[in-house]
Amino acid sequence: MTRNSRQSSSCFHVVLALCGIGLPICPSAAQNSITVDKTRLEWRLDAGEMSYVFGVNEHSALQSLYWGTRLSADAELPKAHIAPDRASFDLSATNTPLEYAGWGEGLPVEPALKVDSPDGNRTLILNYSSSTVKDGVLEVVLKDATEPVAVHLFYQPFAQGVLARWSRIENTGQQPLRIEQAASATWNLPRGSGYAWSWLTGQWGAEWQLHTAPIVSGAQVIESRRGSTSHQANPWFAVGRQQETTETAGPVWFGELGWSGSWRMTVEDSALEQVRITAGYNPFDFSYTLKAGESLETPRFYAGFTSHGEGEASRILHRFQREAILPGRPDPRPRPIIYNSWEATGFDVTEQGQIALADKAAKLGVERFVIDDGWFGQRKSDNAGLGDWYVNTTKFPHGLKPVIDHVRSLGMDFGIWVEPEMVNPDSDLYRKHPDWVLNFPNRQRTEARQQLVLNLAREDVRAFVFDFLDKLVSENDIAFLKWDYNRNWTEPGWDLQSAGSGTANDAKEVYVRYVQNLYSILAELRRKHPKLEIESCSGGGGRVDLGILRYTDEVWPSDNTSALDRLVLQNGFTHAYTPEAMVAWVTDVPDYLNTSTVPLKFRFLVAMQGALGIGGNLSKWTPEMLEEGARLTSFYKTVRSTIQTGRLYWLTGADQGSPSQVEYVAQDGSQAVLFGYQPLQHYGLEYPQVALQGLDPNAQYRVRPLDAAKYMGDPVVSGSVLMGLGLRLDLRGVSDSSAVLLERIDPPK
Ligand code: GLA
Repeated sequence: MTRNSRQSSSCFHVVLALCGIGLPICPSAAQNSITVDKTRLEWRLDAGEMSYVFGVNEHSALQSLYWGTRLSADAELPKAHIAPDRASFDLSATNTPLEYAGWGEGLPVEPALKVDSPDGNRTLILNYSSSTVKDGVLEVVLKDATEPVAVHLFYQPFAQGVLARWSRIENTGQQPLRIEQAASATWNLPRGSGYAWSWLTGQWGAEWQLHTAPIVSGAQVIESRRGSTSHQANPWFAVGRQQETTETAGPVWFGELGWSGSWRMTVEDSALEQVRITAGYNPFDFSYTLKAGESLETPRFYAGFTSHGEGEASRILHRFQREAILPGRPDPRPRPIIYNSWEATGFDVTEQGQIALADKAAKLGVERFVIDDGWFGQRKSDNAGLGDWYVNTTKFPHGLKPVIDHVRSLGMDFGIWVEPEMVNPDSDLYRKHPDWVLNFPNRQRTEARQQLVLNLAREDVRAFVFDFLDKLVSENDIAFLKWDYNRNWTEPGWDLQSAGSGTANDAKEVYVRYVQNLYSILAELRRKHPKLEIESCSGGGGRVDLGILRYTDEVWPSDNTSALDRLVLQNGFTHAYTPEAMVAWVTDVPDYLNTSTVPLKFRFLVAMQGALGIGGNLSKWTPEMLEEGARLTSFYKTVRSTIQTGRLYWLTGADQGSPSQVEYVAQDGSQAVLFGYQPLQHYGLEYPQVALQGLDPNAQYRVRPLDAAKYMGDPVVSGSVLMGLGLRLDLRGVSDSSAVLLERIDPPK
């Protein structure tokens, strides 16, 4: 691209083009590109409908200039200019929106980087040094004025409307350098006030609770200190303007961190109306030493912008995850309908029992049969056996082969549960290797669910885990692993000192090295077994993030399978993650958590919001239930692609107990599906009729209701009417639900 208005040598890279029907960014903005202006020392990243610009100011510091709606090709921004001191208490470093601030120059807000130099200096002043573009990634190098520290900042724009940022911190000197705090990036919002942000918190059985609050002066922090992503907070944010942003309109700045270990995200308003969002490794209990020439890379921090409201922000993320993150990228294969044994048979899995369930599951239309916990070692309960990954021959006297063969003969593929990173003290593995667990020397250790965490940062533990999984998958016809992780870290010790291989500070690198080894095992397994698919589970949704999703095809969002709660949880989940990766099972009633009882159809229609699964005890289902189940799985198959790969619209929120409606529209616009739920009717009021979204107002749609009696309307309806008025569903009483399939009628050619 040539900027006519100024003398500059610049370059332009189109990495990918994107144009989807109905996408507001189509067609002109539907590209990603990197523009380097070497004269002005300014860089512009375009991703979908977003532009992001930063430049070098007169102090040689890198300064954010713009993050918002896509700029015109010839747009020129005011040059980077350091802000003056506001007072002796707020110096210019506080006022200037720095791109990646080292702690130094009087910076009292959250720094991106803090290091401890051997000469006793603890501050950094990062000055611009050079930049290059390679393979669609911009790299900008910053160097400290006197210390041997180089910081490499990376920017990768994606056509789906997301920019990935991360850093690599390099020790360019001869002495070791200790990193105390390292973020991936800081995102500066346009200076101003009146922002509100949304974030997700939770707990076991109640993940994905959505909160929204004004951004006020000071720092608001969400984090995990638990060694993994956590149920308690998820590294996702969305910021809007209080007066402007809604589900369907207004600006939204959003992002998520791709890291499955301890992390921290700080949303900070410095009181000078400059909001910064910084995220990366959690600095709590953190230390990472770089020897001469060594580097530490930080996780990817992905972010985007839309001017079309919160719904569009989530749709951008869904599409981005499908096309650029998930292992099957750019076009993951559809999630199969799973049967899982956990809620049906618990630890009591046997050859005969599982074969009987498989027979029924196949008749329902299930495509993948998964044996959950209990098949290995001396595993009769959660007291024993974790770590002993041999088949329990009391339960499976002939090994797994007869069950797998039977499952395959029924036309399904086979999956199995593993929890590779854990050990019960009552196991052969622990008796043999008590030193393999995370713990501090001579200290009491805390058990959770009677289990301990293996220290995956150790190379011998990494080798053990990879080898047993490789053997399991090589020796059996296994298409899928449900990879579980059922506790948090409590005493994250790694005894390097008595092994003579490191200091107490080196042992803190466990926060990084553990997760790096986890990713490397997953990557190596997938390389060696290209057809293998994996689910990330951690007692439900304790390990869901864009780091693990690069290696796992789907996630288990919650152990809570109560359909009424799931409506709320799945709404929260889909703000940040694609429904394609969201596994949901139809289980039995009364459910084990709330003892609530809702009809089978309601449970199916809730589970259909993502990747449908079934987890009820089919041997207890009546013939009528099995028949209804088969009807509903076959309906799901007709709309699966639209649900998993289409555009999702929450037409109403999903507050506990309130009526809700969710709609999915196929990427090519040819099909849409609407799900309606009426948990509890009030005051005899009719079920609300809500305008649909994302359809073609000029097209006609054939309406195919799942239940003819529940649809009150004509068989063919115009898109403009559907988007003006919506559809009338006759939902009544307690736990009523229905679905409607819409097919666009294309004019004859
Ligand atoms: C975790 C998972 C459940 C099940 C059990 C088995 O709680 O989230 O789905 O697999 O472990 O022990």
